[in-house]
This record gives sequence, C-alpha cells and structure tokens, in this order.
Amino acid sequence: MRSNDVIHFCPPARVVIGCGSRAQLPQLLQRLGYRQGVLVTDEYFTQHTPWVREYVEAGLACGIQTVVYDGGLPDPTTTLCDAATRQLRGQLGEMTPDHVIALGGGSNIDLAKALCLTLIDGSPIRDFVGAMAQAPRCLPLVALPTTAGTGSEATPGAILVDPENATKVAVMDNQLRPVIALIDPEFTYTCPPKVTADAGIDALTHALESYLTLDSFEFDRKDNPDPGYSGRSTLTMSFAREAISLCARYLLRAYRDGSDKEARIGMAYASHYAALSYGSAGLNAVHGIAYAVAGLTHKSHGSTNAVMLPYVVEELSMARRDELLDVARIFGIGDEDEDAAVGKLPILLRDIVAQLGIPTTLAEFGVERAHLPGLLEDALQVTRLASAFPVADVPGAYVRIIERAFEGRLLHEGALL
Ligand SMILES: NC(=O)c1ccc[n+]([C@@H]2O[C@H](COP(=O)([O-])OP(=O)(O)OC[C@H]3O[C@@H](n4cnc5c(N)ncnc54)[C@H](O)[C@@H]3O)[C@@H](O)[C@H]2O)c1
Repeated sequence: MRSNDVIHFCPPARVVIGCGSRAQLPQLLQRLGYRQGVLVTDEYFTQHTPWVREYVEAGLACGIQTVVYDGGLPDPTTTLCDAATRQLRGQLGEMTPDHVIALGGGSNIDLAKALCLTLIDGSPIRDFVGAMAQAPRCLPLVALPTTAGTGSEATPGAILVDPENATKVAVMDNQLRPVIALIDPEFTYTCPPKVTADAGIDALTHALESYLTLDSFEFDRKDNPDPGYSGRSTLTMSFAREAISLCARYLLRAYRDGSDKEARIGMAYASHYAALSYGSAGLNAVHGIAYAVAGLTHKSHGSTNAVMLPYVVEELSMARRDELLDVARIFGIGDEDEDAAVGKLPILLRDIVAQLGIPTTLAEFGVERAHLPGLLEDALQVTRLASAFPVADVPGAYVRIIERAFEGRLLHEGALL
C-alpha cells in the first residue's frame, strides 16, 4: 500500500483461467442470459482447429446461436472492420447480437472490440477514433486469447491500422473491456515460434513498462472520471512483478520448445497478469517509439517493442533504479555491486531479444539514419505515451534512446554477465 496512490482499476468482470476452461463457456453464457452471438476469428481457427465448431455446437445445445466471422487478419484495418460490419449486419438481418466472442491473438480481439461498437447501428469505426465525450453504447465482448500475449482481453482499447495515412489509430473506452476474459492456455499450444516470440516479448514489455511507468498520483487523467489508464499503483505493480517473474522463467522455454506445457501455461498467466497491470497503469516510451517504428518499417507489434525495450530500460536506470535492481535480481543478475547489476539488465534483455530471433538494433530493422528525426517526431506525437515516461526531459530521453537503438549501443556494453 502507498497512501498517496489514486487507484482506478478496471479488470474484466470475469476472469476464467485454466487448461480446458473453454469447455465451460457455453454454460456460462447461457447462465448469463446470452442467446445470439457473433464469433470473430480468422481462417487458421476455422480451418486448422476444432475449437470454433466445438463451441458453436455446444452453444447450440445451450440455446445460443452463433454467427461465425473468420475474416480476421493480422493488424486489422479500419477498412476491414467496416467491411466486416456490413457483412455481418447483412447476415444477421433484423437481429442485433447480444454478445461478441473473439477467438485469436490481439488482432482478432481488437477487430472484435471494434465490431462491438459498429454492429449496433452500422457506423463506420472512424466515428469512434479519439477521445469519446460519452461512454459509447457497445455489445458485451467475451475474449478468448490464443497468444500469450497482447493482453487485449483486459484492456480498454482496440488498435487498428488506418490505411489512408498508414498509422495505427486507437479506439478506446472502458466500455470496450471484455466482460469475460477466458484464458485457456491450451489455445496457445499451436503458436509457431515467431508468434510465440512476438507475443511473449510483448507481454514482458507490458509488464516492465507498466512496472516502471508514471505513478498514479502524478498521472494526468485529463478530468476524465473514468480513465482507461491512470498510472501505476501497488495494485498494478504486484501483477507486473509476478508477470516479470513468469517471463523470466518461461519466455525462452516456450519459444525454444512449443510443446513445453508448463512454459506455455506460465506465459498464459504472465500475459494476463501483465495486462491486469498495464491495462490500468498504462504504458510509455517503448510502445510510443515502437508505434513510430512500426509505421516506418511495417514490422510486427511485438518485434518493434522488442527492439526498443533494452534502450528504454537503460534510460530509466536513474529514475527507476530500485525497481530495476529488483528486476535484475528476478532475472538472476547477482552482482553485489548494485549499479553493476542495474547496468547489466538492459544487456540481458537485449540478449533475450536476440535469442528470440528478433533484430536488436533499428539499423537491422532497415531504419536509416536519415529516418531518425522523423521517427523522433512521430514518437513524441503519441503524447498519451510520451507524457507517462517518468523522466523530466522526455524529448531529450527519446533522442538518446533512438540514437542508441539505431547503433545498438548500451552504456554498460562489455560488462560480463
Ligand atoms: N488492444 C490492445 O490492448 C493491444 C495490445 C497489444 C497488441 N495489440 C495488437 O495485437 C496485434 C498482435 O497480436 P498477436 O501478437 O497476438 O498476433 P496476431 O493476433 O496478429 O496473430 C498473428 C498470427 O498468429 C496466428 N495465431 C494466433 N494464435 C495462434 C495459435 N494459437 N496457433 C497458431 N496460430 C496462431 C494468427 O492466425 C495470425 O496469423 C497487433 O495488431 C497489436 O496492435 C492490441
């Protein structure tokens, strides 16, 4: 407890976690009175797994009709969302569904979140981008994540690509948080190594970034009585710390051996605990700069976070020294000299990124020196993330981070681990 914390914690109304827990979903929805649903997924799940068919049949036995949409794609666009809205409203006719189910990684969950808004009256999703003055009307969402993970099953936002200007836009309100987050680790057993790596480093980034972010008592809520994000507190930090410990133990194991069930389960918990932290505390520079890198390079969400993570952590070695020492110890850095331990942490994180097969410098990502000023400007424009970076001079810090990430230079380089 910290007496000056100001907590606004918004978890999903129900969190169900356990191997095989998907089997209980139809009865749970029946009990809650749901009768007509839309299931949003992609073709991998309809064509290569039994999960969609099994759910639809079990739902019918419980009196729940489900229309399946399997047109989901990685990094969904506003155009895809509008096309899905038209298609589904055509299929549903006069009927308005009483719930939406998302089965998939962060991409399908985000598309489903957006559809919870647009299926009500067919409005284009762009109408909901940006700050909403009033909580929007939206359908209840049930999220079944199949990666570990983005944590989108516990966050207030959907991230969509706007093809008109090639940027990612956020649709965000606490109303969009899933009413049920059902985490069945067995869903993740089929993830190929690249998906495991991207999603796993995303989970570690969420945990670390929210563990280190601005405190709740310093966070500017912009007079919103129901803020989606409101800074870290001892509540969010306890989830973040547990998620970091689980990632330290299981991230590389899950990547190296996808059949390692203990590691898969550990990462499923890590992902959700990280989401319970960042889903209320919020994020800052890693995601802020990674969005700009993704805009430039079109690389995956997880990998653009991964390349920035060590350099952002290093920049916080003064402002968040105690927390970083704690994290260094969690990762097994045992140096008696505490400064040396803190200095070795970014090197260790960069080593993990490399072991996951992800580039560790912006140059390796195809970024050129001439791109750096534009990258800096784009990153600083994501003000909701820049303003939560807990240092006095954010632009100066971003300049140093981007420069070092471009060159792959860490200050304690050469220190033996
Ligand atoms: N809304 C949020 O809070 C939030 C947070 C973080 C990331 N995101 C978004 O999430 C997206 C990334 O999500 P992701 O990393 O989960 O990947 P993804 O959803 O983009 O999926 C990537 C690929 O992996 C496949 N896949 C997913 N689960 C699988 C499984 N169990 N077995 C086999 N294949 C599987 C999918 O079919 C897809 O082809 C990005 O668009 C990002 O912007 C959203």
